This record gives sequence, C-alpha cells and structure tokens, in this order.
Amino acid sequence: MKRNTRVGLVTSGGDCQGLNAAIRGVGKALFQYVPNVEIFGMYDGYKGLIEGDYKFMEKRDFSGILTEGGTILGTSRQRYIPGKAIVDDEGNDLMPAMLDTYNRLNLDCLVVMGGNGTQKSAKLLSDAGMNIVTLPKTIDNDIFGTDTTFGFQSAVDIGTNVIDYIHSTASSHSRVFLVELMGRDAGWLTLNAGIASGADIILIPEIPYNIEKVAAALEERRRSGRNFSIIAVAEGAVSDTDAVMSEEERRRAKEQSRHSTISYRIASELEELTGQETRVTVPGHYQRGGPPCPYDRVLATQFGTAAAHLIMNKQYATMVGIRNGQIVSVPLEDAASRTKFLPVDHPLIQVARDIGIRFGDE
Ligand code: F6P
Repeated sequence: MKRNTRVGLVTSGGDCQGLNAAIRGVGKALFQYVPNVEIFGMYDGYKGLIEGDYKFMEKRDFSGILTEGGTILGTSRQRYIPGKAIVDDEGNDLMPAMLDTYNRLNLDCLVVMGGNGTQKSAKLLSDAGMNIVTLPKTIDNDIFGTDTTFGFQSAVDIGTNVIDYIHSTASSHSRVFLVELMGRDAGWLTLNAGIASGADIILIPEIPYNIEKVAAALEERRRSGRNFSIIAVAEGAVSDTDAVMSEEERRRAKEQSRHSTISYRIASELEELTGQETRVTVPGHYQRGGPPCPYDRVLATQFGTAAAHLIMNKQYATMVGIRNGQIVSVPLEDAASRTKFLPVDHPLIQVARDIGIRFGDE
C-alpha cells in the first residue's frame, strides 16, 4: 500500500511580507493534488527542526493567511559556519538533531523559505540527505538565481512611502534628510525606493560614495534654488575611504564609531561640510512588517504552488525562482553559492543617472 506523502515547512531567517502567502500556496496546491498529503509546520525556523517542535497542519490552517504579515510558523536565525555546519552557541553541529526530526516524521521533502543564509543552510541539509525545495524570500532581493524575491516589493513600497512623506517636512523646514533603508550589503531596495520616491541622491554599497562629492551635489541643488534635499541611504552604504579597508578594519572602525548607523555619520559630515541643517530617518524593521503588497501576494503564491509541483515531480535540491517573468527551478547549489549584489552597470542605475540622481561617485 502506498504510504502518505509527508512534507515539512520551515520559514527561517529574518521575516518578510508574503511568507504566509507562500505557505498557503504550498499547502493549498498539495492538498489539491496529492491524496492524503500530511504537512508539518516547524516552529521558529530551523529551531523547530532541531528541537522536534512542530505542528501537524490541517487544510484550514492554510486559509485566511494570504494578507497576514510575518509568518504563522515563527522564525529564527541560527549560527552558520560557512559551507560547514549549523551550530549552537557552544559550536555543536545541529545536523544530527535535524536529521532525527526529518527521519522520525518520515518526511518526503522539507520546503524551506528563507533568504541568503537560509539557502546556504538548506544546501547543507540537502547534502546531509534530506529532500529539499526552497523558496527565496527577503526584502533585500539579494538571492542568486532569481530576479526577484517575495518581500522585496512590499519593502520597496514602504521605503517609497517613507521618503514620500519626508518630502513635505524636508521642504517646509528647508532641510537635508537622509532616509536609511535596509538591504544588508545590497542596494536593490534603496535604489528602487529612491527612484520611486524621487530621492535626489542614492547611496548604495555597490557604489562607494565620496563625501565631498555628496556635499557638492547638495550645494549644487541649493545654488539652483532647491531648498531641501533627500538622500536615500542603504544601511550598507560605504564611503570610498572605507571601501578600501579590509573587512576587519571596517568592523573595528564601526565599533569605534560614535554613530549608531551609517546615515548618522554621513549626516554629521555633511552638516559640517555644507552648513545645511540635516536630519536622519531610519524606518528599520517597519520595512519588513505589515501585509504583503499585491505583487508579493501573487509572487509568493506562484512560488508556493511551484514548490508543490517540484515535490510532486520529486525534483529536489532546487530553489524556485523567477526569471524574465517565468517561474524557474534553480539548482540549490547555485542559489546558495553567492550573493546577488546590484551590478553597477544595472540599467536602473543608468535610469537614475539619466534623471540627475547622484550616487556620490561623480
Ligand atoms: O535580511 C533582511 C534584513 O532585514 C536586512 O535587510 C537587515 O540587514 C537584517 O535583515 C536585519 O536583521 P535582524 O532582523 O536580525 O535585525
């Protein structure tokens, strides 16, 4: 007699909009096509797999969650030793515990939704013998092998909205405003939100800025009669002087800095160089909260149903992605191999330059 198909679900790493929509997509499609499927939701990311803490999910668990932010399963970050292991605080390898849960539940596949780090960890799980399908989620949009990740567009919408709102107060007070957006070491979110909201200067990690050039751009705007300026700053933006430092030197400089984030440092340097009154706004995790935008609801549903089809076809060790509007399956090995930084010759950067947006490099 054929035994039931058993699938585990994990949401891991930083949360983002669209996780529940993706969970729903996987569940609804599996229940529709796979007779007697059994689905187990791991609580709090890999932690649930490690500790054997999970929930048997019924059909009704996948209803009414499309528009909900966060993840109904909870999430967490685990310590990861690059290419080697997922470990606890004492450095103990957690793979045996995860394999134990996987085998005890007799899973046919584990669907893992996560960002860059999660994809890398998922590769280790796959190497250890688990059948893995992953979905790319992150507001950073920095996962290799897919044009877009779910969560990204929702965060772009929020970042855009923040800068839209800052415009009026910047204008009323004739101030310079820096709005710092997330994205870790990649500039996708800041570039897109910056263009969408009409930022005057955009500073992203991929294009190191020169502070004098940023100051000169502000002065130029003031001379041409503009009484305010908006700078969209990626949290990972780097100055040209910091860009040539080693990672260790940069880490030390950051530790010693009196500024809590890069924007505060840039603001104080600019105020000194230009004399223009300057303020900083950091929306932070607000960018990851709330309901997914319609685009992310659709994308996460597409990704979720694609994962169900991969499971039905036993096509494991793959990540679902989207390229040129087509849903694709990407070898997990490739997806986990590197970070998708914003190419400096990306057409959107040229578009921004075409309308006079400055990046602090010229
Ligand atoms: O990867 C998503 C992200 O929001 C990054 O943009 C940001 O640098 C990081 O997570 C923040 O991490 P945490 O939620 O652990 O503070």
